[in-house]
Amino acid sequence: MKSLFITATNTNIGKTYSTHLLADYMNSQGIKTIIAKPIETGDNGNEILDCQRHSQYNLKIDQSLSIEDINFYRYKLPASPFVAKKYENISTEIDFDMIYQKLSNLESKCDVLLIEGAGGLMVPINEEYNMLDLARFLKASMCLISSDKLGMINDLVLNIEFLKSKNIPCIYAINLINEENYNTISKPYIEYLNTKLPNPIYILQKDISKITHDFLSFS
Ligand code: GTP
Ligand code: MG
Repeated sequence: MKSLFITATNTNIGKTYSTHLLADYMNSQGIKTIIAKPIETGDNGNEILDCQRHSQYNLKIDQSLSIEDINFYRYKLPASPFVAKKYENISTEIDFDMIYQKLSNLESKCDVLLIEGAGGLMVPINEEYNMLDLARFLKASMCLISSDKLGMINDLVLNIEFLKSKNIPCIYAINLINEENYNTISKPYIEYLNTKLPNPIYILQKDISKITHDFLSFS
């Protein structure tokens, strides 16, 4: 069993969208893939939650799975878990051991578990830990999704440099929404970067088989 933690350069970049695209591809290849979102904020009744979307998805793959199997903490305020928890005066700490155990349970039911983070890597969970710490604690491989919009070069390079400085391997993929704009504004530099980096920055929609291959090749 393998797990892949899906993070991004920010919130609203396309983690949920990308996670479903990856799950669709892997399932189409006969790799039984399910999705979890252990911590979610913004549970204010106004929007469909990521964990609800994932739960719907999982039912197509395994009808025994419920939302409680894939989501363990939900907070009302659309903010980092650190802030959202304080907003509701919730004193119960997020328990990494519990998340690990529940996700291990889930892993036994599939070939690949995709775990969607909340926001980006440095989003605080509590006074001690952030999203990157959770991914590391879960011993999951990592995939970081980037926007394709103006500003993505700075955001993506900051993430790459940060992870490189910590020797943390990661797959990088750009969520290509407006190809024409991306080709003009950002592609020339990403292509240049790809001549320098040991691992290429992928285009999610075009390189999904390579992303899957790289992930499955991670030790
Ligand atoms: P959070 O979990 O809230 O941090 O967001 P996220 O990173 O999971 O982003 P999500 O996948 O929810 O995508 C954000 C918005 O962009 C949604 O409204 C998506 O419908 C839209 N979106 C994401 N990717 C694409 C895409 O490739 N094409 C189009 N048309 N819309 C996209
Ligand atoms: Mg999401």
